[in-house]
Amino acid sequence: MSEGRRLLAAHLRQRIEMGEDEAFLDALDAGTAAELVGEREESSSSRSSPKPVPDERRAPARPAAPGAPTKEEIPTAAIIETSSLHQLGELSQGCPRCSLCESRTQVVFGEGNHRAEVVVVGEAPGAEEDRTGRPFVGRAGKLLDRLLLSVGFAREEVYICNVLKCRPPKNRNPRPDEIEACNPYLVRQVELLKPRVVLACGTFAAQTLLDTATSIGRLRGSVHEYHGVPLVPTYHPAALLRNPAWGRPVWEDLQRLRRIAKGESD
Ligand code: URA
Repeated sequence: MSEGRRLLAAHLRQRIEMGEDEAFLDALDAGTAAELVGEREESSSSRSSPKPVPDERRAPARPAAPGAPTKEEIPTAAIIETSSLHQLGELSQGCPRCSLCESRTQVVFGEGNHRAEVVVVGEAPGAEEDRTGRPFVGRAGKLLDRLLLSVGFAREEVYICNVLKCRPPKNRNPRPDEIEACNPYLVRQVELLKPRVVLACGTFAAQTLLDTATSIGRLRGSVHEYHGVPLVPTYHPAALLRNPAWGRPVWEDLQRLRRIAKGESD
């Protein structure tokens, strides 16, 4: 990559991670910009570049397993009516509510303490999560674990999940129809968990949960509300891996999270 291209890539990447999604140039949005500079990799606001590597998700859609539920068989009402996380998780396995069911390896429902004070919400499973069925187990996940621990929460103490329960092919950005189809699972998860506070990691999770287009840079720094639960937005750990300077704001956000979780005044 030439020096000019490298600088342009760095500039665009920073604007994307600051949460900008308006035109970079006429007809160039954040997603396209990221693809052009080859900066898409796992995680929110910077998911994978379309590199010419073999990808198992290029395989043709798998036919539905015999006896698998159809779209109509998991209506939103069935999700809302679940009475336990276990029941909700079971229901989500084999979910056919959007086309990601054709490319995923497995549903990544979420995991952790069912009596957690803190629920962490990320964007969507990446390759490692899709393979293992567990949320936040890649590089970003390892950093998330360390960040949580730095404010006194072991991974096992909190509950971790994503806005989308299935991996978008090649880590592309989640689509509105996928978000809409998956949303009832997250709403019910939070209703059943009744945490003291939700941590929204990254632009995508924060904007989706708060139903806003405001950038993460503007959302973070204050406490919001999600279905009656205080919500603290912060930068995604994957973004932090690329921008160590964001360590301080993330630290401040996590301190705020801890105070709310412990019932101290913010
Ligand atoms: N892994 C997840 O489970 N979620 C993310 O948002 C990123 C990585």
